[in-house]
Amino acid sequence: MAVLVNGGAGFIGSHTCVELLNAGEDIVVFDNFYNSNPQVLDGIRKITGRDFKFYEADMLEMSSIDDIFDENDIEQVIHFAGYKSVPESVKHPLKYYSNNLRGTFNILETMKKYGCTKFIFSSSATVYGIPETVPVKEDFPLSAINPYGSTKLIIENLCREMYTANNAWTFILLRYFNPVGAHKSGLIGEDPGNQPNNLMPLVLDKATGKRDVLQITGDDYPTRDGTCIRDYIHVVDLAKGHVSAVKKARELENGCKAYNLGTGRGYSVKEILDTFQRVNNIDLGYTIGPRREGDAAECYSDPSLAEKELGWKAELGIEDMCRDAWNFRRNKLI
Ligand code: UD1
Repeated sequence: MAVLVNGGAGFIGSHTCVELLNAGEDIVVFDNFYNSNPQVLDGIRKITGRDFKFYEADMLEMSSIDDIFDENDIEQVIHFAGYKSVPESVKHPLKYYSNNLRGTFNILETMKKYGCTKFIFSSSATVYGIPETVPVKEDFPLSAINPYGSTKLIIENLCREMYTANNAWTFILLRYFNPVGAHKSGLIGEDPGNQPNNLMPLVLDKATGKRDVLQITGDDYPTRDGTCIRDYIHVVDLAKGHVSAVKKARELENGCKAYNLGTGRGYSVKEILDTFQRVNNIDLGYTIGPRREGDAAECYSDPSLAEKELGWKAELGIEDMCRDAWNFRRNKLI
């Protein structure tokens, strides 16, 4: 029996493959390399010393997914694959709805056909919209503020409704806060292509000279230093959260549960930039710019439900996140 990792060559997917293999799980990996590349697979093999079956295929092709289920004994699915750029989703909503939703429907339909009923979904803190208070708990109201967020929320709702209709299913919805960092080997990490939007890839581009300007988007928020506060989580901790979710899904006969995966601690943009400069001995030369539209002043998790029910807790700190992110990027330059 294997865990199918859909989107296993991506940033969070690849780190999850490593932690699953390290935990002794058998995996089958599936990716179309839309936002990743085949070298990632060598990185996973090198780090773990283990091999696994890989399919280069698109989740929009039903027959490809069917082949994977036909050729393997899939016990559960971790569904990472999907487009993830907020600004791009605002410009091209149909592209986002079409890929993220149709891909998910295809996976779930095929699971149903083959009697595979355990589905772990890569959700996001974006489903809380702009939270009214912090820390954010799983029972807070849900809303979508952009098409990317809509696709996450629609898939979460589908899982809840499928469970209500037929409680043979087990759904675990993992709501990530802000994943950063990289595996300490420097062999795998975040490689977002040419147009990153998230803070850490922008910091790395500035540190390598690939980008000329790095701006803090607003320093007049009602926070301790005026810059926005987020719950940054090391991607290796996040990956371990998936290993706990796989075990939980195995234990549960059925259910539909959502968990925050965060550290429970917020850092400001300024704190991140200053820590990055200090631990890596790099001067980023950042400036202060205007606010970015749609940003919440503060967003951090209450991760206590995941600790209580999954037995999982983030262990790595902000210095590890900044050091490991740079180590991966620097390695790529060599
Ligand atoms: C963003 C998305 C969120 C998505 C998440 C996925 C928005 C409004 N939110 O979250 O829906 O789930 O990514 O990873 O796009 N910042 C700067 N300068 C920059 C870029 C960002 O100071 O050039 C600041 C932002 O204001 C924010 C922090 O850095 O306070 C983190 O930004 P980002 O990495 O984009 O994450 P989120 O905004 O939390």
